[in-house]
Amino acid sequence: MTVVAVVGSQWGDEGKGKITDYLSKIADYAVRSNGGNNAGHTIDFGGRTFKMRLVPSGIFAANKGSVIGNGVVINPEVLLGELQHLQESGIDISGLKISNRAHIIMPYDILQDVYQEEAKGANRVGTTKNGIGPTYMDKASRIGIRMCDLLEKDTFEAKLRFNLELKNQLFTQVYHKPALKFEDIFDTYYAYGQKLKDCVTDTSVLVSNVIDAGDRVLFEGAQGVMLDLDEGTYPFVTSSNTISGGIASGIGVGANRIQTVIGVVKSYTTRVGAGPFPTELTDETGNRIREIAHEYGTVTGRPRRVGWFDAVAFRHAKRVAGITHLSLNILDVFSGFKTVKICTAYELDGQKIDYYPASLKELTRCQPVYEELPAWDEDITAAKRWEDLPANAQAFLRRIETVTGTKLVTISVGPDREQTIVLQDPWRL
Ligand code: GDP
Ligand code: IMO
Ligand code: MG
Repeated sequence: MTVVAVVGSQWGDEGKGKITDYLSKIADYAVRSNGGNNAGHTIDFGGRTFKMRLVPSGIFAANKGSVIGNGVVINPEVLLGELQHLQESGIDISGLKISNRAHIIMPYDILQDVYQEEAKGANRVGTTKNGIGPTYMDKASRIGIRMCDLLEKDTFEAKLRFNLELKNQLFTQVYHKPALKFEDIFDTYYAYGQKLKDCVTDTSVLVSNVIDAGDRVLFEGAQGVMLDLDEGTYPFVTSSNTISGGIASGIGVGANRIQTVIGVVKSYTTRVGAGPFPTELTDETGNRIREIAHEYGTVTGRPRRVGWFDAVAFRHAKRVAGITHLSLNILDVFSGFKTVKICTAYELDGQKIDYYPASLKELTRCQPVYEELPAWDEDITAAKRWEDLPANAQAFLRRIETVTGTKLVTISVGPDREQTIVLQDPWRL
């Protein structure tokens, strides 16, 4: 198998960065497909920690290069800052390529995100305020500015002038905010494009060619399936498709290129921002998990909401994203707990249901049905093999496999690259 896709299978922050970096050790290319700097992917190795927003998490380990695909929305200032930090840290970034079709997050998109959230008041989504939604809105309304447009001075000028007229009408007349000036944006953004231009290419062609040549390619999704624009808990979602179908369109390859889809989960669930969360723990147990696992947002620093593992949400994710295998992270958090719960079904108005309701009204009436399993006392952060895990941890993992109907390929027992137990080689499935 030469193509492996990694998708978050909950509401993001499942540890995709960690597992992507680990899998990239034997990949030739790592390719990011969607989202923007709303993502925050943590990578730990050799005593160092990196927090990636736009650059693929596979950049540290992939042999030949990494790619930012056409489905990613790029804040060039953030990208340049991230690249500078990597370079100063001695990381080789020379193999990075950026799609000429990727859309640019403009200053008016960031402001629109902020104003829209303010206007929604109690109904706000709790976005990261990075302009992600408005940039995808511009793309869908056919007024987006792509990387190739940013590089053509006259095209960029014409598009920016046109867009600013529209956006300034919106800002001044609807939101009663100040207008933006062309001069304050044009030179700065054109200069960003010039700094990035040597990396810009038709990445769909590049990725297709290297797959044809037999290279190992890792597709890395951002966010999680439950934040998918179509299949997540709409409207409390992000604005891109995070499922494997979205990965194919966000990289510019046929969906049939992807045969292995690794769904990443934690041994529990978290969510940042607003929206339904049936297994949420608002008690001491939730606080305990949050503190042990440092569940605070990588991007915004917000405390993450914490809950038990939700197999109903996972089975939904598995169906819509075509998940074939499972990577489970942060198993180490439950050392010292007496018991651990897994939600196996929901009860809606007294009936057990086995689907994920589309209606938020229905979803808020759902009661999780739990199984309670004994936890373990041992510290497992040094475990290297399945046999090193306590029997109760093994039983918990086997139960997760059964209720999700999905086999585990990796188990993570700590944030470091090496704190990973491999049950099956993901490149030989
Ligand atoms: P991503 O967005 O899916 O890449 O995940 P984040 O990086 O936002 O959040 C996952 C957090 O869990 C990070 O702080 C990781 O360092 C950490 N992490 C990942 N795997 C493990 C693990 O097995 N054990 C522990 N304790 N932390 C982990
Ligand atoms: P990674 O890749 C967790 C959430 C936001 C908010 C909603 C919409 O690190 O897993 P947006 O700024 O995208 O318009 O916000 O989506 N969100 C994430 N939550 N992890 C992420 O990325 C997220 N990216 C967006 O908190 O609820
Ligand atoms: Mg994250």
